[in-house]
Amino acid sequence: MYDTSLGIISQNIYSQVDLHSKYGGVVPELASRDHIRKTLPLINQTIAEADLSLDQLDGIAYTAGPGLTPALLVGATLARALAWSVNVPAIAVHHMEAHLLATLLSPSKPQLPFIALLVSGGHTMLVKATDFGKYEILGESLDDAAGEAFDKTAKLLGLGYPGGPEIARMAQHGTPDVFTFPRPMTDRPGLDFSFSGLKTAVQTAVKASSELDNQTRADIALALEEAIVSTLYIKCRRAIEEQNISRLVLAGGVAANQRLRKRTKLLDADVHYPPISLCTDNGAMIAYAGHERLRRGMSADLVVNCQARWSIESIE
Ligand code: KG4
Ligand code: ZN
Repeated sequence: MYDTSLGIISQNIYSQVDLHSKYGGVVPELASRDHIRKTLPLINQTIAEADLSLDQLDGIAYTAGPGLTPALLVGATLARALAWSVNVPAIAVHHMEAHLLATLLSPSKPQLPFIALLVSGGHTMLVKATDFGKYEILGESLDDAAGEAFDKTAKLLGLGYPGGPEIARMAQHGTPDVFTFPRPMTDRPGLDFSFSGLKTAVQTAVKASSELDNQTRADIALALEEAIVSTLYIKCRRAIEEQNISRLVLAGGVAANQRLRKRTKLLDADVHYPPISLCTDNGAMIAYAGHERLRRGMSADLVVNCQARWSIESIE
């Protein structure tokens, strides 16, 4: 819940990590069934913790996309119905814009224009933000997202889900340069990414190792984290130079990565990121993005609005 003068006044996260971890990734059918069970009680609890009731809200924001349709539909239908029941606007929020705007919840608010590196489990892109809602994609992943590369390789190493934090933890015990993985697409011009080849590189390293003991796992984890972080760093530096904009925002689940945060500090730029707790998916960032749209008079109509694919460039 977000209040214009008080900021975030209550928030809760129900994690489905336990539900999905044995599959090493999100299973849409299980996710949406669990959403149906958990969402309304969680909303009621969050409103109660703010000492408010539903009819005191000015608007209800929901994630309209991009994402898995079965899961999006549960939130969208519920938000639309709740908003209707108390006659307030419902606000359709773009998931990646919400990640980007979460940076404005940190004490050091970046001024526009800025370059944003949006790195989550489903998306990796470099975006130029010139105004609220005005985003130009400078480059994006042609295949797997950075978070997906962490998740898939963690699975190969027999580590838990989500893979990013597991790899980062393991990498702390790794010895540098025992393994070296490629920095995909950094040796040619452009700002696109490709992370799917890292899976194969890790697979080959695993096969070549006589024993996948903890030290080998840590060495591979370190090499993988280094490859992903270096690739992201090189592309950020290129975007900053090409666009001549020296403000960078990191957002999305992978922006919680400490090695990435540390590395981007070396850039000749003013670097901003959301507080760690607001990097990975959370309801507060959706509430905040909804609030920003509502105060600009942007709310959705009565239709339940959901788009599995929705470019951040085409936000109204
Ligand atoms: O934004 P997010 O919570 O969900 C999506 O919108 O996808 O991002 C989740 C992704 C996962 O792939 C997870 O492995 C990654 O973010 N992640 C991390 C870290 N924490 C989460 N990756 C690297 N280092 C981390 N500390
Ligand atoms: Zn996300």
